[in-house]
Amino acid sequence: MNYITENFNKDWKFFLGDAKNAQNPKYNDRTWKNTDLPHDWVISQPFNRGPLEGWTPQNMQGFFAWENICWYRKFFTLENISKRKVYIYFGCAYRNSEIFINGKKAGCRANGYISFELDITEFVREGENLIAVKLDNGCEAPDRWYSGSGLFRNVFLMITQMTHIKRWGVLVNTELNEKMNFATVYVNTTIIKNDDNKENFNAKCSVYDKDEKLISENILNFVFNEKNEIIIEHKIQIKNPSLWSAEKPYLYKTLIKIENNGNLVDEQEVKFGIRHIEIAYNKGMTVNGEKIKLKGVCLHHDCGITGATHYDEVWKRRLLILKSIGCNAIRTSHNPPSEEFLNLCDELGFYVIDECFDKWKSGYYADHFDNDAQRDLTDFILRDRNHPSIFMWSVGNEVENQGQDSMIAIQKMLVDIVKKLDSRPVTCALSPHANPRSLVWSPESELVKLTKKITKDVDVIGLNYHEPLYKAYTDGIEKPIIGTECYDYYSSVSTNFEDVCDKNPWLFVLENENVIGQFIWAGIDYLGEASWPSKGWTGSILDICGFLKPNAYYRKSIWTDEPFIYIAFNDQSKKNDYARGRWSFPPMTSHLNHEHFNRRNVNAVTFTNCEEAELWINGKKRGRRKRADYKNGIIEWDIEYTYGSIEIKGFNKNNEVCSYILKTADTPKKIKLIPDLTEIKKGEIAHIEINITDKNDILCQTEDFFIEFSLTGDAVFLGACSSDLNQNLGFTIPKVMTNEGKALAMIKAGENGTFELCAYSEKLEKAKLKFKIK
Ligand code: GAL
Repeated sequence: MNYITENFNKDWKFFLGDAKNAQNPKYNDRTWKNTDLPHDWVISQPFNRGPLEGWTPQNMQGFFAWENICWYRKFFTLENISKRKVYIYFGCAYRNSEIFINGKKAGCRANGYISFELDITEFVREGENLIAVKLDNGCEAPDRWYSGSGLFRNVFLMITQMTHIKRWGVLVNTELNEKMNFATVYVNTTIIKNDDNKENFNAKCSVYDKDEKLISENILNFVFNEKNEIIIEHKIQIKNPSLWSAEKPYLYKTLIKIENNGNLVDEQEVKFGIRHIEIAYNKGMTVNGEKIKLKGVCLHHDCGITGATHYDEVWKRRLLILKSIGCNAIRTSHNPPSEEFLNLCDELGFYVIDECFDKWKSGYYADHFDNDAQRDLTDFILRDRNHPSIFMWSVGNEVENQGQDSMIAIQKMLVDIVKKLDSRPVTCALSPHANPRSLVWSPESELVKLTKKITKDVDVIGLNYHEPLYKAYTDGIEKPIIGTECYDYYSSVSTNFEDVCDKNPWLFVLENENVIGQFIWAGIDYLGEASWPSKGWTGSILDICGFLKPNAYYRKSIWTDEPFIYIAFNDQSKKNDYARGRWSFPPMTSHLNHEHFNRRNVNAVTFTNCEEAELWINGKKRGRRKRADYKNGIIEWDIEYTYGSIEIKGFNKNNEVCSYILKTADTPKKIKLIPDLTEIKKGEIAHIEINITDKNDILCQTEDFFIEFSLTGDAVFLGACSSDLNQNLGFTIPKVMTNEGKALAMIKAGENGTFELCAYSEKLEKAKLKFKIK
């Protein structure tokens, strides 16, 4: 094979701080840390509260010591590179990167989230080479959330022939006929030559179904003309195509091979989906002709325990949990995600709003916006436009100077860039209710006027927290609406966004044809945007470990149809819940060990998607209630609290279809280690759920336990945490304090052999888990 794409993640050296001349091959890095990528150095830093209260860089970054320069170095060997091109590709380099090859600067990029490629052909030589990367995360304001810092996504090295397919050079567009039984696939491949080649080439485009069966093949011959670039257009037809949707995410693959006299010159594989999405004013959103509503969540890019380091396993687990509660859509707030994350959305089935920026000129990107925004946005679209999961682009979030001409001009400039490259709709997450603040309490008509003005260049009105105005906007502006951000429980009142009521935002989505869906802030607790002692935002649907909170069961009850039922108690004594005010869900716990409830009359709530719920306390029927009789579909019971058991049964058409039982736990006795995989492959990551149970395996939720781990064998302990983000233990040490009976640990398997994880706690039986690497 005469081209190579190599995962370049292994065997780097890392230094935290500035190192003068570290780009020089002669520099001595013996004391630097051996590191594999992806790598986020901030997650293992100590916490630093800082002297200030209120919104500070520290609380935005989760109180980690985030401000520093760092360096990475790696020696690598190249052979037979004459008449070859050599490129390095970064999933991202956070941030202000400078890349040196053999001591010379080969490139730089300020934006820490953007993927980019550097042509390093002129800098490399046969034999040993050095790449050194300097990142500076200390010279500018930080993001409003935990960004992490380092090379926290994959890095690749590519060696190609002089003629090859350009980076992001394969563009797949599909067209479905009206009956949806015939698809045309347009594959445009941009090929570049870097010499004066005038030979004959051919480009073979093959399309495979999901079982790798060849469906169609098409070969075109070409010669380069005067230009260095040529676009080859293949057209492939598929009869009775399998369609892609979030419910059935069917993926095809196209393989492009460039050949010259029978010799392979370059090849590239791209997965794609065939689907037809329509979003129209007052008609809502259809996917392949089926009407859908977006049941979405906003997600930041951090993974909890591993910080910003991207691991497929982490996101696969998290996305599957979100799917289990009915979520079908993600907004990648507020920066380019990793492309591996988008691959997972394609495979698992989510509708994605791919968002490029947060603020424009007032946030962490302020110093670079004027110079870099056009290039960053262009690269973002070029990289992502083949993903079937992406149904919409977003060019900003709650941007500055809303309504002013300067804002409208920037928005137009960004939308125009997107439109040149892709046909999907564009939105911008706006907050006209809050910005300018002078409009708070103003008549609705004033807000309609402003919103009409600021949405004139986008296709869909993206609204953050704005449900009571959906109707006025629908009547006053002929554009579809999307709730780009919503509270989980409350909605705002009229034109005052700070006054909330308890009508759930989902009801506004259901009752208005023009609203295509909602995105809850946030899907998963994240690091940063925190208030000491919390290190993160805890007002989401899943906690940072990915465990379902009581409000996740509420979501499930409104977002799914498969019969299910759940019971919890309104419990003001619930600790460690630091969501900010109106973003929170009323505090709830779900167990039967509340000492402070004993013999009191307490308020229990039932979340179900069934018509009726029946409550049984210690074997005695207590009552039956209809879901439809309750506000937001939450059935409430006032009951005298007793230990023992509470069972709740769901009924449809008078038939019992599901049930859920709570039992009082006995004394905490065991640590249960529950892995998410039974077999582990080399280099794979396992999540280990830690449950504290009594002798009967009932979860004990009222006492926290300090657990220590020991890991022996060929694996690395990545870290551990619980849902309680107030703790100061950090995430990367083999110790954790449980919360509500649970915690999570993560392990990365080595190359071969076995490994064993032990968990100890003073008053509990210890637990062991053995793995054999396959
Ligand atoms: C929104 C903002 C999000 C997040 C959230 C919670 O207004 O767009 O990025 O900050 O508030 O504070």
